[in-house]
Amino acid sequence: MFSQQTGIELEYEALLAPLDGFVRTVAAFFEAGGSGVNVTLPFKEAAFDWVTSCDEYAGAAGAVNTIVASDRAYRGYNTDGIGLVNDLIVNLGYSLAEKRILVLGAGGAVRGILGPLLGASPACIVIANRTRSRAQELIDRLEDPRLRACDAEHLDEASFDVVINGTSAGLVGAMPKVPARAIVGSLVYDMVYGANAKPFCGWALANGASAAVDGLGMLVEQAAEAFRLFHGVRPEGAAVLRRLRDEQA
Ligand code: ATR
Repeated sequence: MFSQQTGIELEYEALLAPLDGFVRTVAAFFEAGGSGVNVTLPFKEAAFDWVTSCDEYAGAAGAVNTIVASDRAYRGYNTDGIGLVNDLIVNLGYSLAEKRILVLGAGGAVRGILGPLLGASPACIVIANRTRSRAQELIDRLEDPRLRACDAEHLDEASFDVVINGTSAGLVGAMPKVPARAIVGSLVYDMVYGANAKPFCGWALANGASAAVDGLGMLVEQAAEAFRLFHGVRPEGAAVLRRLRDEQA
């Protein structure tokens, strides 16, 4: 769809790498003349280890989701956080400035979004994880006074403006345990999309969230940013997102 929209012709295909063969697969792709790769689970950390250099977001996340080749050098980027922030700000029209944000989870997915989230000038970001120590480790790494860690089940604060589910619970049809008072009146955002977002989004709407959205827009926007890195032109994500939503309906 981005190719049609921008008039840039491209070949873009799915490449299945064996679990123990990420480097082999990607190296062969570039060897055969490939110019760029998007990387998804479970290879984002392996991609970070493999690239020649990376941007600040990939560096902070320790994870790469986009690789661009130039002159036998391979630069890694992480566009996930930019995708999330663009979806919230541009597609959903929601400013994060001075907002109180609760992020659930402290794994790779959350590491990838904190830099761009902080860049959107929130008042604070509380990272609540089932295993509190992992949230604390993230905060210790980033050293930003607006960040706090806590244990998700024993969240001591009341409501937040935005609650982002960055756990992988939805992938197995589950949801993180969090007190309902944390999401009353909040915009709830699940970083996974479609059926995987249903447990948490459904629970949130039934318990007083003002809105609950899945991460399809984040998926589109991280791809739009990757497209910009590959081709130097930023396609419009909103039009693609509308088409995908229509197809789902
Ligand atoms: P990813 O790269 O997708 O983030 P990960 O690094 O394995 O994957 O992290 C998964 C995150 O989802 C973690 O924060 C995990 O919590 P723990 O650190 O306590 O393991 C969280 N998670 C997964 N399943 C969960 C569940 N059922 N309830 C709450 N949190 C869950």
